[in-house]
Amino acid sequence: DAAAIRSILSLAPVVPVIILDDVSQARPLAEALVAGGLPILEVTLRTPNALRVMEEMAKVTGAIVGSGTVRNATHMKQSVDAGCRFMVSPGISPRILDAADDIGIPLLPGIATPSEAMTAAERGYSFLKFFPAEANGGAPVLKAFASPLPDITFCPTGGIDPAKARIYLGLSNVICVGGSWIMPGDALAANDFGRIEALAREAAALRG
Ligand code: 3PG
Repeated sequence: DAAAIRSILSLAPVVPVIILDDVSQARPLAEALVAGGLPILEVTLRTPNALRVMEEMAKVTGAIVGSGTVRNATHMKQSVDAGCRFMVSPGISPRILDAADDIGIPLLPGIATPSEAMTAAERGYSFLKFFPAEANGGAPVLKAFASPLPDITFCPTGGIDPAKARIYLGLSNVICVGGSWIMPGDALAANDFGRIEALAREAAALRG
């Protein structure tokens, strides 16, 4: 419900969007992100080992793990079984909204237009992901949503860097942003979790 997703999304200004297949990196990555001040972790269902990555990350003290790229009821059940506390979908469909009604953890549904935002709002959602944020026009679009859709709060995701994140976080209808810039591919490949922790710390300070 809205209170549940609000309390999660209020905990940090940035939600790392994680695409990881190497299960051995799951715990050190989650530990680095939590230590840097980003406890909310979205693990996308885009790799063969994503569910095992979630299970490992959910064991890290302070980490609140959610599933991303959720497309159907099976993904939702798998997410709960893996210890997820929330779910994120790239879009809305009648079936995914029906399935979410039967699951005990909240969904952050993705939308790109006012019509989709209105459809989600009619189903009781007041917190939505704006996706893909930059490709859809970025902060000026969300700013334009604020007056006609005053009851809806957004987490923009897609194409965001620290400078853009700061602009989104200055909007009245943005609670947090999502992004992958905190985990550069070369840092992950080198197991450079110190660099990732430093990037997380900078991201955690973006709303200050
Ligand atoms: C994604 O689709 O992977 C997320 O929206 C993150 O996007 P980003 O990699 O552009 O931050």
